[in-house]
Amino acid sequence: MTVQAANLAGLDLRAEIDRLRKERNAVILAHYYQRPEIQDLADYIGDSLELSRKAAATDAEVIAFCGVRFMAETAKILAPEKTVILPDMDAGCSLEDSCPPDRFKAFREAHPDHIALTYINCSTEVKALSDVIVTSSSAETILSKIPPEQKIIFGPDRHLGGYLNRKFGRDMLLWPGVCIVHEAFSETELLKLKAQHPDAPIAAHPECPPHIVDHADYVGSTSGILAYAKETPAQTLIVATEPHIIHQMQLAMPNKTFIGAPGADGNCNCNICPYMALNTLEKLYLALRDLTPRVEIEENLRLAAKKSLDAMLDLASGTVGMGDLGARS
Ligand code: 13P
Ligand code: SF4
Repeated sequence: MTVQAANLAGLDLRAEIDRLRKERNAVILAHYYQRPEIQDLADYIGDSLELSRKAAATDAEVIAFCGVRFMAETAKILAPEKTVILPDMDAGCSLEDSCPPDRFKAFREAHPDHIALTYINCSTEVKALSDVIVTSSSAETILSKIPPEQKIIFGPDRHLGGYLNRKFGRDMLLWPGVCIVHEAFSETELLKLKAQHPDAPIAAHPECPPHIVDHADYVGSTSGILAYAKETPAQTLIVATEPHIIHQMQLAMPNKTFIGAPGADGNCNCNICPYMALNTLEKLYLALRDLTPRVEIEENLRLAAKKSLDAMLDLASGTVGMGDLGARS
């Protein structure tokens, strides 16, 4: 047992987190991929876009972000006056790691006639080098507002970018990043599972590779998949995204059956995001108690990154077009 774990032995962590949340005037935001025990005590659970909006709008003084680092950084970019804490600062993302800012800058410079449409799963530095950020739930709305003749580079997720290219008949230049979690689903095992449950539709996140997405009845963000699970009359659903989202599905629809899409070993546990899993109740308690690890961003960098995030929030809201953004800057 670690010294820290020994010191926490006997504490009622849920009660302590509740006490600290009130004392600190904190809001706990959690992504759907968080451990069930964290989802259960969060004030809000959502996809990347919803959590960004919550962070921008909250009255709380402290945002305890239970997700990965790029999400907590997004919260700080949008709400700089808040104290933003992340239970484990090592909670990164393979997509962010695939896209170092210096290489992304060189890619941009090699294509001066392209705009950079960038997935939110990237560093603050890459956001600062981008024109418009997208999430999986806002990408289609935003791309449909960009004139077809406009050349675009899209990073870091080549699977989301490829899915958008196919769906919209675009030829965006794709950065070669992948999500290690969605990359791990096995087409062979998925088809075996489907043969056992022929009436169960497949819902997939667009971070999945094409050999998985091509079998899906529904493709969308985490919140989109959750909404689809509620709408479909099917009683059994195969879920091709990080399996912790199934916790919310089971809570909302206790009479339906949700099966996580398998990896090569035939089960869905290899698809747990190792970065998301770093956050635990113990670390959340310590973060609220000590107000650390804390996200800090240098102000000029924050302002540069905020431009592309604001463009996303404006374009995703449905009332603003690309022309309005041009006029604004
Ligand atoms: P969404 O929740 O926005 O669908 O994104 C999923 C994701 O990549 C989290 O890492
Ligand atoms: Fe990154 Fe994939 Fe984990 Fe999401 S699920 S945080 S994209 S590694």
